[in-house]
Amino acid sequence: MGNLEINICGIKMKNPIMPAAGPLVRDVESVRKVVDVGVGAVVTKTISVKPAKVPNPNMAVDGNLFLNSELWSEIPWQRWINNIFPSIKEMGVPLIISMGYTSDDISFLAPKIANLADAVELSTHYLGDDPKPMLDAIKAAKRYLDIPVWVKVSPNVRDVGLMARQAMKAGADAIVAINSLGPGLSINIDKKLSRLGGQSGYGWISGSAIKPLAIRYIYEISKNVDIPVIGVGGISKAEDVVEMFMAGASAVQICTAAIIKGPRIFTKIIERLEKILDEYKYKNISDIIDLFSDKEESEKIPDYTSPPNIDLDICNLCERCIKSCVYDALSIVDEEIKLDSNTCAMCGLCATRCPINAISFN
Ligand SMILES: Cc1cc2nc3c(=O)[nH]c(=O)nc-3n(C[C@H](O)[C@H](O)[C@H](O)COP(=O)(O)O)c2cc1C
Repeated sequence: MGNLEINICGIKMKNPIMPAAGPLVRDVESVRKVVDVGVGAVVTKTISVKPAKVPNPNMAVDGNLFLNSELWSEIPWQRWINNIFPSIKEMGVPLIISMGYTSDDISFLAPKIANLADAVELSTHYLGDDPKPMLDAIKAAKRYLDIPVWVKVSPNVRDVGLMARQAMKAGADAIVAINSLGPGLSINIDKKLSRLGGQSGYGWISGSAIKPLAIRYIYEISKNVDIPVIGVGGISKAEDVVEMFMAGASAVQICTAAIIKGPRIFTKIIERLEKILDEYKYKNISDIIDLFSDKEESEKIPDYTSPPNIDLDICNLCERCIKSCVYDALSIVDEEIKLDSNTCAMCGLCATRCPINAISFN
């Protein structure tokens, strides 16, 4: 079996899969559930100097999208420090404490958790897109802590490479990318109501819709810094984890998919990841880090110069490719898919629509 063990910032983990800060890690019992399904480490729900006043409703599914307006923990920091963190520490997995937000908040909280955590994760979610408050928060954490300081970025940064370099210079030991996207608004048209409560009814978007954004952030950050990047955003299967590693991640976190499908998804992803390593003959999970990033630029990007090949032995005439061929280059003639190469624009969509890989470009 492929070896999933990793060492990130000196923290040994039996596998690279963590729950991301969110409702699955909100208290002792919820954390116990994710530890029981085999995660490599635990990141806890973000705490701050004041408990959050969370609106109801605060989570909603809208088609493929997941939205939330959950804020940070509603539990006061005193209870976390006196009861919850000590109980989690006894569970025998590394503990990463998420906290927020300003440098004053961090200066207040950091000394109190110094002996409890294996690392801290700073949430920068409500600090805006000016890097200064984030850099001040990192410096505050470094002043009080000698454990690794991870910095979690939100996907609202224009020059993410620059931001990552600045964070590293300020002392960040790892970058976690990304937090949820938005905020967005989702309206129930029967009730003419927002799907979420709160002052504006706005919510943060997460889940599979944000995965390509997360991959791009991971890729750009890892090209710009030489500290580990921890990938989060839209993972729902082991193949997504591999994609993040190839883009430059050294570990990953999952939130939305485990909310929707339940914590058992962690076990499924971990077991499948071991199998994928075997299938591709990789010995260690670290063997797949940067496999995409390290290629020559010209080898990373496809460039189609001729229409696709259709393997008629595999094709089962499901017609998905025909329905979505906006150039009308595909049709069925005599019970076979026919390609009109004069009309084909080589847009590539048909190959990604085919569920059985019967269509390929050279
Ligand atoms: C309901 C909910 C609550 C969340 N709470 C927090 C939080 O307290 N702190 C934080 O840094 N991120 C929080 N997040 C963001 C997630 O940790 C994660 O970065 C984001 O959802 C993208 O990952 P995913 O697509 O796997 O959910 C929350 C996300 C959701 C869906």
